Amino acid sequence: MNLADLNKIANAMVAPGRGILAADESSGTIKKRFDAIGVESTEDNRRDYRELLFRSEAMSKNISGVILYDETIWQKAKDGTPLVKLIEQAGAIPGIKVDEGTQALPGCPNELITVGLDKLAERLKKYYEQGARFAKWRAVIDIAQGIPSYTAVRTNAHALARYAALCQQAQIVPIVEPEVLMDGAHDIDRCYEVTEFVLKETFQELYYQKVPLEGLVLKPNMAIAGKKSAKKSSVEEVAEKTVRLLKNCVPGAVPGIAFLSGGQSDEEATAHLDAMNKIGGLPWKLTFSYGRALQAAPQKAWSGKSENVASAQRAFTHRAQMNGLASKGEWKQAMEKAA
Ligand code: 13P
Repeated sequence: MNLADLNKIANAMVAPGRGILAADESSGTIKKRFDAIGVESTEDNRRDYRELLFRSEAMSKNISGVILYDETIWQKAKDGTPLVKLIEQAGAIPGIKVDEGTQALPGCPNELITVGLDKLAERLKKYYEQGARFAKWRAVIDIAQGIPSYTAVRTNAHALARYAALCQQAQIVPIVEPEVLMDGAHDIDRCYEVTEFVLKETFQELYYQKVPLEGLVLKPNMAIAGKKSAKKSSVEEVAEKTVRLLKNCVPGAVPGIAFLSGGQSDEEATAHLDAMNKIGGLPWKLTFSYGRALQAAPQKAWSGKSENVASAQRAFTHRAQMNGLASKGEWKQAMEKAA
């Protein structure tokens, strides 16, 4: 492992003004997204849609890296250029989702464990040869009555650290993603408490498994109320509590934190990131690694029609630009100035 090189990639992934495009929707998830815009989820349609994103202006300006799904990393654009090359030509870094989804965790009703460690070392070698310089593994922790259990948190943290160690050995920067879902009815303080527990366990496992923190990027949820909660938090409360939470859990050796959007609206995800960066004085970079919050607008604009490609690209570029400003804490002023 060359830690200095891993650290260089990790820093590039969270460079100010830039963030990560999560375009690694599994076949099931992309089908759901395409169903919503009335597009059939064929291999060609998935390629056309992702090609449109990778050829957008946003890529060279505000996107540091793209998380790909296995199918995409092997695909070629319509003109025969490998999609990975398109990303590299724009100056962004190709990455790859390497977990193989979730399964029920025995003994823990309604809880999940992320799988995919078997043969991961071999798969990482192939992905590196194909151009991937970072990877992603997502652990899912749900909040409800009586959960999460200690078993689910511990087991998922252990798997995340196993994955991270294997990535670094393959000279690939691991994005460590322990996602506490915002699907429930819990309030922001319950989210805080659970995320604190999850992050502390995750960093403990990373330590036990000898993963140097300079060579990874953390992808957490924000401290935020569940979607079914009656108590909505203000932008300031989300920002303050998330920063306090991260300062309590994430060592300063971590180069950067790139949030997931987790079901927040586009604007909320941007406003929250902006408010956190405005607080300032943070030991790590704070940026975005959004899926839905970057892609909802371009998907709607595209709707599967080739004549809509340019407007879909504009919609994606706009969201990336807004989040690029938020990664520097400059979004709100820019909006006020423009108004
Ligand atoms: P969302 O931003 O849509 O939550 O997706 C990010 C991601 O990569 C989840 O694993």
